[in-house]
Amino acid sequence: MLRIAIQAKGRLSEKCITLLEEVGIKICASKRTLLATSTTFPAEILFLRDDDIPQAVADGVANVGIVGENEFIEKRQNATIIKRLGFSRCRLSLAIPKEEEYNTINWFANKKIATSYPSILTEFLKKNNIKSDIHVINGSVEIAPGIGLADAIFDIVSSGSTLVNNHLKEVEIVMQSEAILIANNKLLKNQTEILDELVFRINAVQTAENKKYILLNAPDNKLEEIFNILPGMKSPTVMPLAQEGWSSVHSVIEEKSFWEVIGQLKTAGAEGILIIPIEKMIL
Ligand code: PRP
Ligand code: ZN
Repeated sequence: MLRIAIQAKGRLSEKCITLLEEVGIKICASKRTLLATSTTFPAEILFLRDDDIPQAVADGVANVGIVGENEFIEKRQNATIIKRLGFSRCRLSLAIPKEEEYNTINWFANKKIATSYPSILTEFLKKNNIKSDIHVINGSVEIAPGIGLADAIFDIVSSGSTLVNNHLKEVEIVMQSEAILIANNKLLKNQTEILDELVFRINAVQTAENKKYILLNAPDNKLEEIFNILPGMKSPTVMPLAQEGWSSVHSVIEEKSFWEVIGQLKTAGAEGILIIPIEKMIL
């Protein structure tokens, strides 16, 4: 059994649950209590506050966890980063009231900065030889300057709309962050095996992302040209159609090269082009 800690409520929770479902770990919605056992995979899901996940994993209360890199770095807990997950990307930035003139980082000298990330901020200020007054608050950091509690903030920025709504501007990006999978340093053999299976499945889901399955019909004498256009994985699959002299071609294309390729394929004589999402891909 592998116990996986995820955020109960917040910026990561929905995407974590989606990811777990995509890799075949179903959790009954009605059973979404603090600890839920999956009926489809040897795992239990422990729902925690994101701030508590690094320590829960380090202490072995959970075997693995999905957490924001920002929380993991901030908490300085001893656990292993297994995989970067690529979702819930954000940055940790310093922001100041938008009407303030800002030239260099020296602006922050002797200023009061509100944050929920004191250790990352302390290290950053130290590296830049700046002495500021760090004021720790948990949540709603962005309102601190407006109510006179601080001169500036150090907080998560994702879309940037929180800053705009609070008349703040981002002036220094201190770190980039995304969701990561972390594990306890002393897993049992069977837990390591389940974790390996989990990582294998996550890789299959992530490899499939941004890729599409393409099917098309083409005259046999155009196949060579079409193969050259399709930047497929290996060689495309070709099957003869009932209609003499025509074949069906199947391959995989990158989502981003999709429109470009479609035009070229049509010009080359392809017909009946179908683009289908891929759920999982094992290379
Ligand atoms: C973070 C942060 C901001 C917001 C920034 O809060 O504290 O409030 O997200 O996102 P934006 O740039 O897209 O507006 P979060 O949602 O993590 O909740 P918390 O403040 O309770 O931790
Ligand atoms: Zn939080």
